Amino acid sequence: MLSDLARHVGVGRAVQSAVFRAGVYGHRPPVPVAPAALAAAARRRMSATGWAYVAGGAGAERTMAANAAAFARHRIVPRQMVDVGRRDLSTTLLGRELPAPLLLAPIGALELAVRGPARAEPELARAARDLGLPVMISSQASTPMEDTARTLGDAPRWFQLYWSDHDAVVESFVARAEASGAGALVVTLDTHVLGWRPRDLDLGYLPFARGQGIAQYTSDPAFRRLVEARARGLLPDGGAVPPSGPAPRPTPAAVRSLLTMARRFPGPTAANLRSPLPRAAVETFLEVLRTGMPPSNTKKPPPPGQTLRGGGFCVSGRVLDEGL
Ligand SMILES: Cc1cc2nc3c(=O)[nH]c(=O)nc-3n(C[C@H](O)[C@H](O)[C@H](O)COP(=O)(O)O)c2cc1C
Repeated sequence: MLSDLARHVGVGRAVQSAVFRAGVYGHRPPVPVAPAALAAAARRRMSATGWAYVAGGAGAERTMAANAAAFARHRIVPRQMVDVGRRDLSTTLLGRELPAPLLLAPIGALELAVRGPARAEPELARAARDLGLPVMISSQASTPMEDTARTLGDAPRWFQLYWSDHDAVVESFVARAEASGAGALVVTLDTHVLGWRPRDLDLGYLPFARGQGIAQYTSDPAFRRLVEARARGLLPDGGAVPPSGPAPRPTPAAVRSLLTMARRFPGPTAANLRSPLPRAAVETFLEVLRTGMPPSNTKKPPPPGQTLRGGGFCVSGRVLDEGL
């Protein structure tokens, strides 16, 4: 929970005060504050593959640089000679009072940013709950949304949806999001296919191909039906899974990947290592990922019952009225 000091003077001043008091005793903040130092520290702690996934962008990363430059052009306009004794950043969004106009963007495969047994989403959910800020739960999370929702308690949350080719999976995700208390759906429209990301390609690394960041899928009953069919050699349309050709020679990396998949899949790791399901889940996910949201004029919109209670749809950052 927020300390009494943070409640009284604000989070920023409470953190500053703690840092400077500890500094008197020769302690530096365990997490660097300067953005470049923070990035450098994260890079040192993360695996090369995890860092590439989190820090990298598509192509020559010129769009990423242009976005950062555009953001840097925003300025805070100071107003002088006003009463700042009580500073209030609170605002209302979708009928809900928020302490600040700040949302935690959906970040998939967040597990790449933690070491050891800690799970990233519960940590994030705890921090967001204590600050009262809304979390956008990612479709690509490493933790099922129901677990994150439990940690969040009454704190606000939205659900970010990657629209896939399989309506049953999309409908199931939306129903679960609603049952998990999501106040809005955030539909990501710009990921019809994976971006061409040279850093990931040069390392041959995609978290989902190792079962990382697919917990919403492996915990989903509609997706699990597709996985079980695939393990029996059937595609979602009832056709046969095409033969994959001669199996490549096993390598230590392949064994590590299988272990990662088995650990991420629900159930005991030892049983998962003997089961075809973890691998079938990855293959099924890579199939589902192939498509994005259909053009609105070729597919019917979700029925009104799927609009979240008290919420709306948010598309590319714009919150729309019900009935997308
Ligand atoms: C590592 C990483 C993972 C992300 N995962 C998701 C995701 O699962 N779903 C999504 O809609 N956006 C995802 N995004 C996009 C972010 O939510 C955000 O929209 C984007 O990074 C732009 O914000 P920025 O300029 O502050 O980075 C991800 C971004 C990063 C860097």
